[in-house]
Amino acid sequence: MDNNIKNKNSASNSMIRVNTSAQEISQKKCINIEHGDPCSIVIIGATGDLTSRKLVPALFNLYLNGGLPDSFCIVGCGRTKLNDQQFKRKMEKALTEKGIPDDSKWRSFSKFLHYRSVDYENPGSFINLAKFLKKLDQKHITRGNRIFYLALPPSLYEPVAQMLGESGLSEEKENGNGWSRLVIEKPIGRDLKTAVELNQSIQRHFREHQIFRIDHYLAKETVQNILMFRFANAIFEPIWNRRYIDHVSILALETLGVEHRAGYYEQAGVIRDMFQNHLMQILAFTAMEAPSQFETGRVRDEKVKVFRSLRPFPVEKLHEHIVLGQYGPGTINGKRVPGYREEPNIKPDSLTPTFAKMKVFIDNWRWQGIPFYITSGKRLARKITEIVIQFKEVPHSMFRQTLEERIDANQLKLGIYPDEKIILTFQTKNPGARVCLRSATLDFSYHQNYIGPVLDAYEKVLIDCMLGDQMLFWRQDGIEHCWSYLTPILNECESCDNRSKMLQFYESGSWGPLSTNRI
Ligand code: BG6
Repeated sequence: MDNNIKNKNSASNSMIRVNTSAQEISQKKCINIEHGDPCSIVIIGATGDLTSRKLVPALFNLYLNGGLPDSFCIVGCGRTKLNDQQFKRKMEKALTEKGIPDDSKWRSFSKFLHYRSVDYENPGSFINLAKFLKKLDQKHITRGNRIFYLALPPSLYEPVAQMLGESGLSEEKENGNGWSRLVIEKPIGRDLKTAVELNQSIQRHFREHQIFRIDHYLAKETVQNILMFRFANAIFEPIWNRRYIDHVSILALETLGVEHRAGYYEQAGVIRDMFQNHLMQILAFTAMEAPSQFETGRVRDEKVKVFRSLRPFPVEKLHEHIVLGQYGPGTINGKRVPGYREEPNIKPDSLTPTFAKMKVFIDNWRWQGIPFYITSGKRLARKITEIVIQFKEVPHSMFRQTLEERIDANQLKLGIYPDEKIILTFQTKNPGARVCLRSATLDFSYHQNYIGPVLDAYEKVLIDCMLGDQMLFWRQDGIEHCWSYLTPILNECESCDNRSKMLQFYESGSWGPLSTNRI
């Protein structure tokens, strides 16, 4: 952090000032957007919501910012019968609704858009797709490189991967051209067994280096920044351990409810929806050791070591380590909102948790005995995503005779949303004759003095796929280690005995169940 703190040295003016001038922030060390190889981006499930809301807008933005390779094409595939023109019109409408106009650019971009209807269970349909893609390779000079983005429900990952494999579309050539990559998103299984099965069946057709398992939290700049902050500065690492840190809190609080996703969420609940993926990744970035190089395999190895060091959850003492909740009706931002059980398509007696707080320990030299509190919930008072490093109190207070209160320990907050900030809290003297302390902060705002494009999560994911860089994607062993940690917890919490006993109801717009601080 290039921040300077100046304490104007007089009792009458003890203002704490934080200086971060443009010169102080060096942007010289930035690497601009790299270009991937020419390729066809094949979106399977292209008539769905994800394609029009996220993927095509992201690709169009990349096109506008020069982030796409020199030659490329985008092929939408889906069960619906559409021709190229109808697909283009559908995408144009979606972009217009998102307020991304630019007619002339759209016209030139849309020349690279195609559509092909496919039947997910019919091998012939994929053989035709393979022939079609071959023709497009000639037309757009994409050298036989392909990304298959499965914008599909997870139940279709396995059959579609199989169809791609059997039609030869997962094969790669030896010479570096003609690569084939598969992109999928969570949920990867619903427990250890199903995740292993899914990985195995996909790996019958795609090898690990071809599989890109997205976690959109890893595409967030502020999440990536955790590594830079920790390992590009010498002063934080020496105190980043059990000797100086009291506990760590990782929070992902949301105001949104279940929205239109009842079918998925009723089966998932908060632990599968947020913990098995995003929160485990944040935990890994916060707790991992420094890899010897900023290189995909090494970074992923270090993260996996964290997952392997998770202390098995004491399922016999659930109440001391986990709080589960479900939102009832309440008020958020002045608006009445229904409870989870009154949401469309949710069972009126549903026992699905929408809130969880877990106490997690990492059994290694650095973190022995230090609790990590991980919390996530829907319909809470505010949307906040952050990591809070709570340091220990001073070992001895020389002010104990003078001060009436305890001295607050230092705290470091890594804000991910809405404040993309790093905030260090520390104690200063309060101005005046009496000895009195007050907390002050050093703040760094992530986008302060930055000028330049900021990639949205899907843009980042698509660029990394084109580059073949898997650093910000899940590796199979990481997923499986996390599932082996979480599956026993889920089994225990979902057992008939515990299901209703564990669940505490909280009012929408509150900070979660009243007993949250029990652990
Ligand atoms: C998704 C979950 O993965 O992440 C959602 O399925 C959740 O339930 C969302 O709302 C939160 O993402 P973000 O980026 O808004 O914090």
